[in-house]
Amino acid sequence: MKHFLSFEDVPDIEKLLDQAIKYKSSPLIDKHIGQGKRIGLLFLNPSLRTRLSTQVAAANLGMEAVVFNVDKEGWALEFEEGAVMSGNTVEHIKDAAPVLGKYFDILAIRTFPGLLHQEEDYCEMYIQQFIKYAGVPVLSLESATLHPLQSFADVITIEEQLTKHAFKRKPKVVLTWAPHIKPLPHCVANSFAQWMTGWGKVDLIITHPKGYELSESFTKGATIEYNQEQALRDADFVYVKNWSTFQPYGKLLEAGSEWMLTGDNWKLTNQAKIMHCLPVRRNVELSDEMLDSPFSLVTEQAANRVWSAQAVIAEMLKEFNK
Ligand code: CP
Repeated sequence: MKHFLSFEDVPDIEKLLDQAIKYKSSPLIDKHIGQGKRIGLLFLNPSLRTRLSTQVAAANLGMEAVVFNVDKEGWALEFEEGAVMSGNTVEHIKDAAPVLGKYFDILAIRTFPGLLHQEEDYCEMYIQQFIKYAGVPVLSLESATLHPLQSFADVITIEEQLTKHAFKRKPKVVLTWAPHIKPLPHCVANSFAQWMTGWGKVDLIITHPKGYELSESFTKGATIEYNQEQALRDADFVYVKNWSTFQPYGKLLEAGSEWMLTGDNWKLTNQAKIMHCLPVRRNVELSDEMLDSPFSLVTEQAANRVWSAQAVIAEMLKEFNK
């Protein structure tokens, strides 16, 4: 694995999953494989889980992790080719990325989409510019359109439940749109759909109000159901997430407060486990009752971010010994 940006970079999901589960039971079994190697964690946006879980994962592999909050501490970066830099940006990615490539063996980047121009976000300009100019492997800590380490942690979390409880049929996983106070990226929803359908161990149903259709390039293989009650019926897992519209791009339509997951609509499910990537707006996206219930897996999901990152970084480190 040279770069890790999406499910498509994973040659064998079951093998990667086994590795992550091994790391969870024995975190330090590969504590020397990253010795003498350094990973730069570049944040262009805020983060709690991604930042800390990736640092812990790198430490478990004997690797040094250096965090750089580019948005707060760095020069304002320019990403446009041929830009006349007479505005607010101070340093071009063409100049900054090669320098970072000299300091680090792997560069990990966290960016969000601007949600203003679909084409600009969906071509993944920020992360692609780092790949083009840094000259070292690049790991996505969430990009404009995808959040692969989160989705892999979600796969780990569901796999643990499948191992714990015998399922007589293919488990039904529902990704439900949730209300929010502002337009959010599509990354988690796109990525979750891509990993669930690519993994193939579950049936994925996506439910949302009309107008919130995601890009078909990520949802193909999933069933779309506009009626949330119908979608939730007999669900084994419910993944709750808000996203803004894809077409027109980046908009928030009506409030849709009735789409919040509460004890009332959850009753339709097969005592479904509840998932959310966090951070979550309580009593907007999900009720306290649901988040504080024994059916909530949100802490397990966040905890599994360590093993997700550790398995992926270990795969990337193998490239150095080829
Ligand atoms: N789920 C997630 O990526 O959390 P952070 O934004 O805190 O990293």
